Amino acid sequence: MTSTLIIGATGLLGSEMAKASARNGDNLHVLVRPATSSNEERMRPLKDLGAAVHVGDLDDYDSLVRAVGKVDRVISSVHVGSASEMTLVRAVRDAGVSRYVPSAGFGLDFAAAAPGTIQPLDIKRAVFDAVRQADLPYTVIYTNGFFSTWVATLGDLTRFGSSPLPPDEVTLYGAGNVPATFVSEKDIAAVTMRALEDPNAVRSEIRIAQNKITQSAMIELWRRVSGRSPHVKQMSAEELETMIAAAPGLGLLRAFWIRGETALETATPEAGALYPELKFESIESAFVAMAGAV
Ligand SMILES: NC(=O)c1ccc[n+]([C@@H]2O[C@H](COP(=O)([O-])OP(=O)(O)OC[C@H]3O[C@@H](n4cnc5c(N)ncnc54)[C@H](OP(=O)(O)O)[C@@H]3O)[C@@H](O)[C@H]2O)c1
Repeated sequence: MTSTLIIGATGLLGSEMAKASARNGDNLHVLVRPATSSNEERMRPLKDLGAAVHVGDLDDYDSLVRAVGKVDRVISSVHVGSASEMTLVRAVRDAGVSRYVPSAGFGLDFAAAAPGTIQPLDIKRAVFDAVRQADLPYTVIYTNGFFSTWVATLGDLTRFGSSPLPPDEVTLYGAGNVPATFVSEKDIAAVTMRALEDPNAVRSEIRIAQNKITQSAMIELWRRVSGRSPHVKQMSAEELETMIAAAPGLGLLRAFWIRGETALETATPEAGALYPELKFESIESAFVAMAGAV
């Protein structure tokens, strides 16, 4: 039986990865930080999946080598801090695995996104360079926008975390007519599991570019599905630049809604074309579920 280690399995994406891996029949391993490992409520879903638990930390090389040494493949689903993920790259190189899915990929396709404009993406790019230099058997999955981060906020990243449901007030960036692409966390996990079974996906990048829609059309779709009428404020590209200067992480709003970088066609193979048997959840069906919860 193939064994898979997930680092970040208590998180938003990692918890879907853990469920998908268990469904896949993998021997599931997780690495969790000491404080998390003693939190019964946070650990229960992983215990219910029958996961073997390794206590460690992304910053603790020895704990990583011990856990990585027990598995065939590793999925990292943490927020990338450069030093931390570089430690994992070293551990994967030293312990040796048949496949490594670094968290560096869970965002924009590097071939589409302009370097030097979004700090977290530049960190991910540096990690990916280290993965390639170490000649690891990687598969990088570019996801573009997650449903929970972008669809549930009607494309207004500044609203993330305020509610799991679309907001009653939303900012429309630029003219609202630039397309972007989105995918549910469950579908990201399904693509990852499929790619892990694909020998051609070793040392390769895969891009998920599904559910292409403009911000105006997404807000209109939510209105139609929910019968609600969020108040829409408009922000010009110039005003957005002022906001980004004060909060650089918001450069993602520029990438999505001004430059359209998540909807650009690149040479990176697209998951739906590579694996036509996979069916992706639509934004409309996600909105129907959210409207039922309002
Ligand atoms: N494209 C998009 O729209 C989008 C949206 C969201 C996220 N992402 C990307 O998806 C990936 C996962 O993000 P997420 O939102 O799922 O993350 P998250 O919910 O914040 O979860 C992070 C996970 O990493 C664990 N973790 C944090 N620091 C750690 C450390 N030092 N050692 C070991 N484990 C550690 C956390 O464990 P604890 O339980 O101990 O805290 C948690 O399980 C990231 O690469 C992120 O950039 C992309």
